[in-house]
Amino acid sequence: MTDYATLFRLDGRHAVVVGAGSGIGREAALALAAQGARVTAADRDLAAASETVALGNRDLGAATETGADGNHLTAYQLDVLDEQAITTAARELGDVDVLVFTAATNVRKRILDYTGEEFDRVVALNLRASFDLIRAFGGPMAARGRGSIVGFSSIRATTVEAGQSVYAATKAGLVQLLRTAAAELGPNGVRVNAIAPGVVETPLTAQIKENKAWYDAYAQKGALGRWATPDELAGAVVYLASDASTFVTGSVLHVDGGWTAVDGRFDPPN
Ligand SMILES: NC(=O)c1ccc[n+]([C@@H]2O[C@H](COP(=O)([O-])OP(=O)(O)OC[C@H]3O[C@@H](n4cnc5c(N)ncnc54)[C@H](O)[C@@H]3O)[C@@H](O)[C@H]2O)c1
Repeated sequence: MTDYATLFRLDGRHAVVVGAGSGIGREAALALAAQGARVTAADRDLAAASETVALGNRDLGAATETGADGNHLTAYQLDVLDEQAITTAARELGDVDVLVFTAATNVRKRILDYTGEEFDRVVALNLRASFDLIRAFGGPMAARGRGSIVGFSSIRATTVEAGQSVYAATKAGLVQLLRTAAAELGPNGVRVNAIAPGVVETPLTAQIKENKAWYDAYAQKGALGRWATPDELAGAVVYLASDASTFVTGSVLHVDGGWTAVDGRFDPPN
């Protein structure tokens, strides 16, 4: 019989979170660790990843009373623009049950103003690095016959506005990359899914928060009438990492406060 009381627990699992130094990746790392996983908090910014580790281990130490069992998170320096470094990480980190990656960038500019260099920079991080991560970690997972890979897409994979061109294209591309990985790795017991957030207050969206009209317009767009905080994405990560989602693969989980459900143009009178 399934033990529903432990459905979301991750005891004995090793989770690698790439982008764990900030925003959604940080909260994902903290949540996975709180559910019992051993977490490698990877980021290009080692100091930021170490901050996440300190936060998580402090909380876990308090939770376990003794504090001695406090090494559930470990920081790891990784620049995913370096393919060789990804290969080395996959080898060094040993058996990995869960891979979550969040690192991404956006250049908000109209297509006619975009440069080729900017296009390459956004594609390299959002798409090429994802491809390299899936290859490096997916292979050993398939060989072991288990694993869960979670990538971060966006509402921009389906709905756009002026200035989102290359970012939106990479986020739509990432969905198809992840779905194809789900098709290819499924027979080996590896699940692959995407999470598509709405607007979340993190450093990635700081530029928008600085502009009140822009910030408020985004808040009003969804059904809930507000932005998310990054911890509100953590439940989706835990779900897709855990045995609560053993039959879920090739899916896109929208955590967008209703952004993609509501077209937002007009509220008809009753
Ligand atoms: N914040 C939002 O509103 C929002 C909305 C939709 C989708 N998303 C997606 O969610 C994901 C997480 O976004 P966030 O807001 O938490 O971002 P963030 O900018 O807060 O965090 C990204 C992290 O990735 C790290 N990073 C950047 N380049 C790296 C590299 N080359 N190698 C390793 N690490 C690198 C950064 O140091 C940082 O810690 C992204 O994929 C983003 O596109 C975010």
